[in-house]
Amino acid sequence: MKTIVYYYTLTGQCKIIATKIAERLNCDSEKIIEKKKRLSKGFLRFLNGGSAIQRKISEIEIMNNNPVEFDRIVIVTPFWAASPTPAVRGFANRYSKELMNKKLGLVLSNLGTDPKEAFTKYKELFPEPLTTASFTKAKEEWTDPKMSQLIDQFISKLGDK
Ligand SMILES: Cc1cc2nc3c(=O)[nH]c(=O)nc-3n(C[C@H](O)[C@H](O)[C@H](O)COP(=O)(O)O)c2cc1C
Repeated sequence: MKTIVYYYTLTGQCKIIATKIAERLNCDSEKIIEKKKRLSKGFLRFLNGGSAIQRKISEIEIMNNNPVEFDRIVIVTPFWAASPTPAVRGFANRYSKELMNKKLGLVLSNLGTDPKEAFTKYKELFPEPLTTASFTKAKEEWTDPKMSQLIDQFISKLGDK
């Protein structure tokens, strides 16, 4: 089964999670790159939340690995203000046809709030069934051994058939 992990990151955490998942699945990972430049340092980075609340759809660079070529696709992204990131809205929009009839996984990363609302909103962007996992810093899920355990659970839920 051909698998790929795509990730969006502003401050690096989702790259760490995506890389670990890709290592476990023995596949490549690729970053979703927004054409828009954003503040990523300091408290001002939280201003990016406005574009998530407004459901902005970012233009993204064309992926080197076209999703159409894969059977199993994992997307790793933060949520912002309990909402999808504009980059991942852009990805879902640009590749909506290519993502049909795939085995899809969605992994969210966040600091502390309940991911429920964000999952509901992200699920509007992707076809079901979608296997999900979340990594919350406040619950120490950004650090091992919790992260590795959650990755194991996610991979077994995702399945290999
Ligand atoms: C604009 C913005 C809004 C955020 N909103 C939330 C939020 O609503 N709840 C939460 O727990 N974390 C929130 N965060 C924290 C991020 O989800 C967290 O830093 C992220 O998982 C880090 O991923 P990254 O390093 O891959 O960008 C927000 C971060 C930013 C930059």
